[in-house]
Amino acid sequence: MIAVILSGGAGTRLWPVSRELYPKPFMRLPDGQSLLQKALLRAVSLPGVSEVLTVTGQEHYYSTLNEYQALRVGDYPPLVFVIEPLRRNTAPAIALAALSVSERHGADETLLVLSADHLIEDPQAFAEAVERAKAAAQRGYLVTFGIQPNYPATGFGYLERGEPLAEGVYAVRRFVEKPDALRAQGYLEQGGFYWNAGIFCFQAGAYLEALQTHAPEVYRSVLRAWESSPRETPQYLDTQTFHAVPSISVDYAVMEKAERVAVVPSGFGWSDLGSWDAAALLVPADPEGNRVLGEAVLIDTHNTFVQTEGRLVAAIGVEDLVIVDTPDALLVTRKDKVQDVKKVVEQLQKLE
Ligand code: GDD
Ligand code: MG
Repeated sequence: MIAVILSGGAGTRLWPVSRELYPKPFMRLPDGQSLLQKALLRAVSLPGVSEVLTVTGQEHYYSTLNEYQALRVGDYPPLVFVIEPLRRNTAPAIALAALSVSERHGADETLLVLSADHLIEDPQAFAEAVERAKAAAQRGYLVTFGIQPNYPATGFGYLERGEPLAEGVYAVRRFVEKPDALRAQGYLEQGGFYWNAGIFCFQAGAYLEALQTHAPEVYRSVLRAWESSPRETPQYLDTQTFHAVPSISVDYAVMEKAERVAVVPSGFGWSDLGSWDAAALLVPADPEGNRVLGEAVLIDTHNTFVQTEGRLVAAIGVEDLVIVDTPDALLVTRKDKVQDVKKVVEQLQKLE
């Protein structure tokens, strides 16, 4: 099995720490490791992983390499890189991984596609879920991992569970990417729905076939870019032909439409550090419910998260705030508004 690490999104809801040139995978957690390092450790500690293939953008290649080299633990399986000249979202990125693997190891080889922006707390439970997924993938299924939802999140895909296929594996009746709040609420009330963890397992050939069927223009354009790129290590993609590739996520291009989709429901302590409320939970709370990373003086302040790099933050008489200070930008928001941080980034992009 080949572990594929996708590292390229911008993570706009974690501004000002996550930036265009310093996206979410490079974000360091309170234990000093970046999300990317955690993704690599997760990949190499799974049994049966014979290679780790990272798909990333050219502006992030050297920093990705640095993150990996800084770990220096144990004997890794080979680390292979495919480098995109520009961002085209996950359907093309996974297609590049599948083409690279098919060419070198055959279309039957299984891929485990990991995001570089998740946390998994229980590696043992994760390894067991991956074993189940691998068996279903080898029967031609496109396998997802299902997380029990506990609120009507609108930032995740939803999977409706169908009939059982094997122990702990179910057919997926429906895949709905990022429903609106009303529909998300409906799925929670109806029951039998999971969140899509954003981790996938399938044979390289099964993915490419599904892409060809459900998003033929994506398939054709990626194949063209792949074939126009001379083989080299690391594998850079030809800029001109890759430019023509549409930008679309695997969820919309393939998973919502494909027939043979399966889900492995799992309780491996998954969290998507999508926004500051989730990131704050990694820092232990004091008796007032405040969580502080860096130096802060808090007086008569409750349920507030402070993250600061170097500068001292002081707060008096406030509650339910998120305060994130960086050398050139300061974020102050109410906790129930953290999803709107992406609007700040949109405004900034308009100004550029
Ligand atoms: N190489 C590369 N190129 N990687 C990319 C690109 C790209 O163009 N775009 C995104 N990625 C990487 C991100 O860095 C992240 O690790 C992963 O692919 C997923 O992309 P996101 O942009 O974070 O997706 P999402 O969070 O909106 O949605 C996905 O994950 C959710 C769970 O976290 C979907 O699969 C949802 O259905 C799912 O619930
Ligand atoms: Mg994400």
